[in-house]
Amino acid sequence: MGEGYAPSAAVELPSKMVQEIADSGYAVPEKYIHKEVSSIDPESLPWMPSDVLIDLQQLLLDSPSELHKFRSALLSWRCFQVVNHGMTSSFLDEVREITKQFFALPSEEKQKYMRPVDDFEGYGNDTFVSKDRVLDWTDRLYLLSYPEDRRRLKFWPEEPPSLREVLGEFSIKSQAVLKAVIKAMERSLDLKEGSIGDQYGEKGMIFSRFNFYPRCPLPDQVLGIIPHTDGSALTILLQNKEVEGLQVLKDDQWFKVPVIPDALFINAGDQCEIMSNGMFKSPVHRVVTNSERERVSVAMFCTPDPENEIGPAAELINDGQPQLYRNVKNYPTIFYHYYQLGESPLASVKIQG
Ligand code: OGA
Ligand code: NI
Repeated sequence: MGEGYAPSAAVELPSKMVQEIADSGYAVPEKYIHKEVSSIDPESLPWMPSDVLIDLQQLLLDSPSELHKFRSALLSWRCFQVVNHGMTSSFLDEVREITKQFFALPSEEKQKYMRPVDDFEGYGNDTFVSKDRVLDWTDRLYLLSYPEDRRRLKFWPEEPPSLREVLGEFSIKSQAVLKAVIKAMERSLDLKEGSIGDQYGEKGMIFSRFNFYPRCPLPDQVLGIIPHTDGSALTILLQNKEVEGLQVLKDDQWFKVPVIPDALFINAGDQCEIMSNGMFKSPVHRVVTNSERERVSVAMFCTPDPENEIGPAAELINDGQPQLYRNVKNYPTIFYHYYQLGESPLASVKIQG
């Protein structure tokens, strides 16, 4: 397991972790600087409204008004925040805490979990084939955390001691949220139950990514993560409680995502766009850096069973709306291939017409 997601060509690893660069006090290396962007000034940008907020319990109870809100959030923003999701405030704090504690470990300790060049799991930075690709100001720990029998514990840190258990629990709880959201997606599109859920399958996986964004001395020229879409079906994101940084693109305008401390941020991923035949699109989003405060986040990328072929739900294909994407299997592999090249993964599965 794992080979299918590995970097597909010879890759150049950044020689240093971003945290080391930040701590060294040296100038920001050229390869992190976006020269074509005049300024990434978050001050001047509008906020995404904080009422794009869904009550998951109400959604599960089939509340028509909540379902309506959910559908319009996905149609207009392609993402939303969710409360009443079954995770307590103190549990979410624990997830944030293990993240901060892991990145605060001495580098020798973190190196034990270093991602091998030809693997996708472990501690490290992104890999890029393209030399022109500007690097992200972030360090990561990437683990396949669900289902349990896919876990490769050699990459699971033993420090902090509660990390394994907390991540295990976070994964199980995220899976429950995911199932509820998929059901709601089916209902809000008037699909038969299972039209999307059956494609997703019982053996869908969760890739967990712990992101650490060190303070950056050049926040208006350096990005935490460049504009991208996610290769998941859905991404469930736990944000830092105090520090914002995530932005979503809507109608060519960047919006800052507010931090709502007990809420989870959920966005559609490319595979949601494919299965909904373009109804629920995958939003472009990015992360900005901050010169004063570091930031952590935990992204749970939920992806269908890699053995399943997924494609636009049959009920969403008709004379007025042809099939927009071809059927695919194991989309994350396609995603990484194109992402590393700096090309659009989704464009590669679009049916030209
Ligand atoms: C990601 C991502 C957002 C964040 O990891 O793909 O978009 O706020 N993260 O860290
Ligand atoms: Ni993302």
